[in-house]
Amino acid sequence: MDFTELISPEEVGKLLGQKALLNQANGLVDVVLDYKNLMMEYACAIREIETKIQNLDTEFAVRYSRNPISAIHTRLKSQVSIMEKMARKGLPISRASIEENLNDIAGIRVICAYIDDIYRIADALIAQDDIILLERKDYIKEPKPSGYRSLHLIVSVPVFFAEEKKLVKAEIQIRTIAMDFWASLEHGIRYKQCGENATSVIEGLKECAEQIAATDQKMQQLRIQMEQMHEEDKDGLEELYEKLKRFDAPF
Ligand code: GTP
Ligand code: MG
Repeated sequence: MDFTELISPEEVGKLLGQKALLNQANGLVDVVLDYKNLMMEYACAIREIETKIQNLDTEFAVRYSRNPISAIHTRLKSQVSIMEKMARKGLPISRASIEENLNDIAGIRVICAYIDDIYRIADALIAQDDIILLERKDYIKEPKPSGYRSLHLIVSVPVFFAEEKKLVKAEIQIRTIAMDFWASLEHGIRYKQCGENATSVIEGLKECAEQIAATDQKMQQLRIQMEQMHEEDKDGLEELYEKLKRFDAPF
């Protein structure tokens, strides 16, 4: 039998073309889904770390009647930022390359009341036996030339999925309310800066950072001073009331 009676060469060509297109579309969708999967892993890592930090805050509230953390902000790096950073670093855009080279796809920002709270939270987190500390950058002890202050931790945390356990990297930035106030405003101002007054603006921002750092130190001293005075003065009844107040700390 002549097959051309059943299907013409033109039709065969059309079908093959469609199949090639379908294969291409499938391949493309697989890549996109793999990327979605990767982002899901980082989103889960954020959740794991956020819970750990919330738990530390709750524990502090019950044990010491004080919340060292005033806020936690989390963010998954945007697609645009990921592509822009990979391109800037001249890196190939693949799952392996993204996983190896970017530490800040999962971002957690912890805003503390006082400087000593920053180190208390960081130390307690790092001490957890499932957290692996990959890098620690102390921009409080050594501020950036801009005046930027924060404690940065790059960690990896195990995340349990249905069929595997994965170690996922995250960047944790821990800073005081004052440091955060400066960083937020500086970010906005810096991106507006233009040639002529840039130097004076940069100097002005640095000066603000130093004043803010001095205020942070002073507020901490005042808190410690007050705690010591209170410790010396309080009688048995006050001690009892303080303990009772801890009952009301929310979980
Ligand atoms: P990136 O390529 O920007 O991630 O630099 P890096 O990997 O060397 O990390 P680095 O420790 O310098 O800081 C990373 C993050 O800290 C930035 O994405 C900002 O969120 C924050 N940061 C660092 N420097 C400054 C600064 O001068 N001003 C503000 N507002 N934020 C800063
Ligand atoms: Mg970064």
